[in-house]
Amino acid sequence: MAAFVEIQRLTKVFAPRNGGAAVAALEGVDLAVAEGEFVCLVGPSGCGKSTLLNVVAGLEPPSAGDVRVNGRRISGAGADRGMVFQEAALFPWLNVIQNIEFPLRRLGVPRAERRARALHFLHMVHLSKFAGAYVHELSGGMRQRVAIARALAMDPKILLMDEPFAALDAQTRDILHEELQQIWQETRKTILFVTHNVREAAYLADRVAIFSAHPGTIKRVLPINYPHPRDKESLLIARAANVILEELKDEVEKAIRRQLGEEWQRPADRVSRSARLDLGRGI
Ligand SMILES: Nc1ncnc2c1ncn2[C@@H]1O[C@H](COP(=O)(O)OP(=O)(O)O)[C@@H](O)[C@H]1O
Ligand SMILES: [Mg+2]
Repeated sequence: MAAFVEIQRLTKVFAPRNGGAAVAALEGVDLAVAEGEFVCLVGPSGCGKSTLLNVVAGLEPPSAGDVRVNGRRISGAGADRGMVFQEAALFPWLNVIQNIEFPLRRLGVPRAERRARALHFLHMVHLSKFAGAYVHELSGGMRQRVAIARALAMDPKILLMDEPFAALDAQTRDILHEELQQIWQETRKTILFVTHNVREAAYLADRVAIFSAHPGTIKRVLPINYPHPRDKESLLIARAANVILEELKDEVEKAIRRQLGEEWQRPADRVSRSARLDLGRGI
């Protein structure tokens, strides 16, 4: 399959702030994503996942390398890429349908079409009855549904999702996982989805890109060859989640050691050391 999104040798360095050092967030990241593919990005916090998504969205310029969509180098944000964040970022003074219509209005989509599109996607996320509700009346899960409908209403080719379900309770998250799978199959979007939840990644993704940190690079890309729609309870998903977790553990430990210094040890090492001490005392 030809790559639809092509990330090549992407490097992102943030300029120093307040006299600090420059931050190398990404270094030489290569990733090719096929049209209609669902790719999850996992990695320890601070490894550059959000930065990668922001660069692909065109919200941050790359320091080196480039991002191509459908063969064209991106320059800035575009309606072909829609974004969903952890916090829904809805306007509290607009109701649900107005929130969904807002970006369409800025694109100059005529009023009647705006309404029709907004209603279509509201229906898709099962919020038709809440078109007139305001943000403070909605639960966290409902807000994310609105954010998803808002992104879809722009009819982007690519959906960029940055830990969209991380703040939700487990039950709501489970339901949204199933619905997102369904939406993805119905709309055939290409999805780049950031998460630190390994089961989420194993369940949703065609491929999981596992990051290492400082500077962020892709350590391994793991294909999950299991047809959709999937059974979350299947052994295959559990196994895939374990593989991802093992890859991640090393990275997370390295990150903790970097923060806390060499003094830090894994709990298992600590236990065995105290056991050795006990033996030394003759117990
Ligand atoms: N706008 C910014 N200015 C300076 N440094 C930033 C900025 N955004 C992110 N960073 C730094 O880049 C690194 C990667 O951040 P981020 O992409 O948010 O990681 P992740 O999403 O994987 O947790 C971190 O060290 C972070 O502090
Ligand atoms: Mg992030």
